[in-house]
Amino acid sequence: MECFFSNTFIFLLLFFFLTNSLCIKAQKCHPNGIVKGKSPSGHCSHENDLCCVPGKKYHTYKCSPLVSSHTKAYLTLNSFEKGGDGDGPSTCDGKYHSDETPVVALSTGWFNTKRRCLHNITINGNGQSVVAMVVDECDSSKGCDAKHNYQPPCANNIVDASMAVWKALGVPRNQWGGLDITWSDV
Ligand SMILES: *[C@@H]1O[C@H](CO)[C@@H](O)[C@H](O)[C@H]1NC(C)=O
Repeated sequence: MECFFSNTFIFLLLFFFLTNSLCIKAQKCHPNGIVKGKSPSGHCSHENDLCCVPGKKYHTYKCSPLVSSHTKAYLTLNSFEKGGDGDGPSTCDGKYHSDETPVVALSTGWFNTKRRCLHNITINGNGQSVVAMVVDECDSSKGCDAKHNYQPPCANNIVDASMAVWKALGVPRNQWGGLDITWSDV
């Protein structure tokens, strides 16, 4: 009886341990917080950038969707040149990058605390593919503050790419800025 009890007990422990870890793996990426647009706004230094709307709440994320061989993402346009959209040199190498070079910034979870820095990813979109180097983070974990130019946090599924990426994918110039893509680690 004693033996039966301890076996059952160990079995149950194992059972809970296994199911728990499976659940953790299957967990979706949930927001980790909220930032609010501050009043007054109008601090965005670039006219065509969207400022946080005063009082509006924005979700922040430290995670991104799980990476697979066809990770779904949203491609946006960025300049990594000096005086471009980014407010300084790239986080990964402290350098600026020409619009003619295929480079990207990834949402916080995918950027993975610099672990993807200077690694290459394959981007598939518009029936084409291009290899691009990760040089920066698109910060999903913070926003609406001076450091982020009073812009909202990045979504958690963003590949923010230089012009060279858009060109290589053969997207017509008047459609540059937003495209559903998939990507994978090279
Ligand atoms: C990524 O590609 C660039 C350009 O082809 C290359 O210089 C670099 O070494 C590659 N990075 C890695 C980590 O393979």
